[in-house]
Amino acid sequence: MNAELSRPAADLLTEIESIAPPEGTCPPRAWLHSDAPVLSLNGTWRVRFSPSAAETPDDGWQTGTGSGKDWGDLTVPGHWALQPRAGQGTGAPWYTNVQYPFPVDPPHVPDDNVIGDHVTRFKLDDRFLPHARLRFGGVEAGATVWLNGERLGTIRGSRLTHEFDLTGFARAGDNVLAVRVFQWTAASYAEDQDMWWLPGIFRDVEVLARPVGGIEDVFVHADYDPSTGDGELTVEVSSDGAAVIDCPELGLSGVPADQRHPVAEVRPWTAETPHRYRVVVSTATEQVTLQVGFRRIEVVDAQLMVNGRPILLRGMNRHEFDPDHGRFVSPERARTELLIMKQHNVNAVRTSHYPPAAWFCDLADELGLWVMVENDLETHGFVSGHFDGDPAKEPAWRDALLDRMHRTVERDKNHPSVFCWSLGNEAGDGDNLAAMADWTNDRDPDRLLHYEGDQRSGKVGLWSQMYTSHADVLAIGEGREEPLADPELQRHRSGLPFVLCEYGHALGTGPGGMSEYQELFETHPRLAGGFVWEWIDHGIRTTDDHGREFFAYGGDFGEPLHDGAFVTDGCVFPDLTTKPALRDFKKVAEPVRISIADNRVTIRNGYDHRDTSHLSFVWTAGRKHGELDVPVLESGEETTMTLPRKAGSGTVTVSALIAEDLPWGEAGYEIAWGQRVAEPPPVPTVRPRRRLDDRGRLGPARFDGRHRLTSLFGVPVSGPELVLGRAPTHNDLARGTVRVGDGSADQVWQRQRLDLLQPRLLSATLTDGLEVRQRWGALGQQAAVITTMTWHADDDAVALSFRAEPEGPWGDYWARIGLEFVVDKVIKKVTWTGGGPGQAYPDCGQGARQGEWSATVDELQVPYLRPQESGARTKVSRLGLERGFVVTGEPFGFTVRPWSQAELVAAAHPHELPTTDRTHLIIDAAQHGVGTAACGPGVLPAYVLTPQPAALELVFTKR
Ligand code: GAL
Repeated sequence: MNAELSRPAADLLTEIESIAPPEGTCPPRAWLHSDAPVLSLNGTWRVRFSPSAAETPDDGWQTGTGSGKDWGDLTVPGHWALQPRAGQGTGAPWYTNVQYPFPVDPPHVPDDNVIGDHVTRFKLDDRFLPHARLRFGGVEAGATVWLNGERLGTIRGSRLTHEFDLTGFARAGDNVLAVRVFQWTAASYAEDQDMWWLPGIFRDVEVLARPVGGIEDVFVHADYDPSTGDGELTVEVSSDGAAVIDCPELGLSGVPADQRHPVAEVRPWTAETPHRYRVVVSTATEQVTLQVGFRRIEVVDAQLMVNGRPILLRGMNRHEFDPDHGRFVSPERARTELLIMKQHNVNAVRTSHYPPAAWFCDLADELGLWVMVENDLETHGFVSGHFDGDPAKEPAWRDALLDRMHRTVERDKNHPSVFCWSLGNEAGDGDNLAAMADWTNDRDPDRLLHYEGDQRSGKVGLWSQMYTSHADVLAIGEGREEPLADPELQRHRSGLPFVLCEYGHALGTGPGGMSEYQELFETHPRLAGGFVWEWIDHGIRTTDDHGREFFAYGGDFGEPLHDGAFVTDGCVFPDLTTKPALRDFKKVAEPVRISIADNRVTIRNGYDHRDTSHLSFVWTAGRKHGELDVPVLESGEETTMTLPRKAGSGTVTVSALIAEDLPWGEAGYEIAWGQRVAEPPPVPTVRPRRRLDDRGRLGPARFDGRHRLTSLFGVPVSGPELVLGRAPTHNDLARGTVRVGDGSADQVWQRQRLDLLQPRLLSATLTDGLEVRQRWGALGQQAAVITTMTWHADDDAVALSFRAEPEGPWGDYWARIGLEFVVDKVIKKVTWTGGGPGQAYPDCGQGARQGEWSATVDELQVPYLRPQESGARTKVSRLGLERGFVVTGEPFGFTVRPWSQAELVAAAHPHELPTTDRTHLIIDAAQHGVGTAACGPGVLPAYVLTPQPAALELVFTKR
């Protein structure tokens, strides 16, 4: 094959398919904040594309200006597939999860391999001569780099930093930088993360001046001794010149580097108390500023300890994603992300599944988050061949994999937020991983090491799994796990804390079961918490043929092989608006627990390290409210106090609020709450005063000849119809690791034909109202539900008493038991008393509380990137439809939307939902849980809706 290619093309292919580490780069080092000059090369570059190595011109372009008809403009940093004008015909974004979007034929790549030749020109002055570095933050999926026509070397490791020494290559005045970027390289086999494949120079490109005698690298060790409160600072410096350290706050002035400096009484760094000291390292020619945090990370008795106290990870898996720019995320946007995390009680981030932009950990250091920095490595797609040829075990890949880990650790090694390194994600197991682990443990013994893919866990400091069932997590918490065959490995593993590096899969409606995990984490010391999968939906903003904007997922760009909407499993939407999952997480993970029984409030400080002096506590009961004088609680302390008499005996909420502005939240922002819920008022009785007349009128209600409602208070309404089904959520469509019944929930429901119920009138009796008995059978099925709807009315109100009794051989469970009313007009707004403001299902919706709420019908919907059952409110005692009617009842659930369930099922994206002039109201007696079967365990037994009798008592009034 190669023989048929021209020499340059054959050489190019050889380079693309090389599994060697990058060539010509400087040894990896920390990303330092130096006073040496920096020149950003970000901006508009010239680019041209070739469809394959064979068709890539070898025309001396590396010294050209990038002019001519084949060349266009491209913004760097940027993925070319997201800049369609530059990237005409260069391939679209492509989403796959586990599977590679090319044949598994390592190290070969397909002939179709878009190659982007990038050129930029820049001027250098004396400050950058004779020594400078060229630094790339991230180039997918590898590149070759030339300066002024001279080849500097190669980039491999798309999310890893690469530096080239420009000594002897750079010149005063004009310079030409040429970068040839490949859609696929052999390195793509090591980069099979669950995300869009998006080639391009997507992170910053800079030239760094390197003064003679400057600071090449720094490694800070800032230990904290919890028994004395003292610290010890050692700053290892690599430099040709002598380096000294200054930190006035610590009383250090001009002290030598590379020595231990004991410092008395330091303020330690934790995610809750991110205190940093500004340390300046100087040589005669360069100064580097570090933000140092003192802390000690240890494993003691299988517990994850920081500064002598156990910590609990309330974490998120964060991919870098922006709906317009892909994996190019601005620091401003990332700061917003971290503020949202802090405001939702997130205290940890796993940088799934690659190192983030270099400044990310600065933000985490500043705002306070525990960070697990993960290496850029995943080879999951080898699973299709039983991991045969997996880079993790092939000796030929060893240097490249080690190089990846070196780059990961060296760049971020000075951040106090980084408590742990991760070898990568789902890369099988093998000697190369073992070598990476050995190197990491040796290089940085002060942090823990993580890798989930090898359950023997012999070289790691945390035992980790993903999506483990609650029952198995409990067993691990209690030390009852299945032991390893090797006693030595078993001894090691049984001494490790356990984390769920992924759980609570947030795809679509859900996730169910988060509270139960949190309870396990908070009960068993060995369980150190976990990281929800995942932080953000990777939906790419695009438009359809009619110019309607939407967020695209797998398949929307015509990819021949893809994993659909599986990439939309975030706790925030692509534009960073929060999803119900995040609001629920905020409640589940709250660091202060507030419970109220009778008139006694108990408040417990669940922070790992800090007291509650930054909080104030208030009670609210309807319009009344007041402060609670809560003593400052140390970590783990609790107090109980009596509510003031003024709070009354009804529903009362006690909230923990930020007392004074914090870097991540304003004074008055609520971080935790507890509620005592009063009994709902009794359903008003309707004394039957009207009888059904011969025109079908029963007080304010009207019925047709088949005893179906046609209007209420003059508002056209049809129904009610029994509903047992729902538009399947992502979780309903999957089988799950722990399931009830056979197959997915949707299969269980399809077999029962829950969405194909047909009524047959059994009897219609004119009592002092109307009693309608019906048999609801599913098409082709023997099973049925017998319903009795008894209607009464007076002049102002209509009462419906509903009873349902299942009959015959139903399947394992239903989706819901509800009544659907179709209002033949557009309802714009609703108000309700009950759970809100957000949605709730039996096993999620923890963020919802009792109150009086109002929302537009639009606001009631959750715009999941693929429409599905969503938007239910539960524990509702009163619902008002604006310009419609009011429903009062024993607590019920409701869903109001302009679409039928069939319309919801038919739409692949929110913008495909039709505009209707109807409003569908479903009143539920019960719903099935949601679970996380899309990835992980299904619905827990307590939330399974087995076929069962149900009842609803409802009263309809005009207002
Ligand atoms: C895990 C994987 C993640 C993601 C998740 C499902 O196996 O580590 O990257 O694919 O499953 O969304």
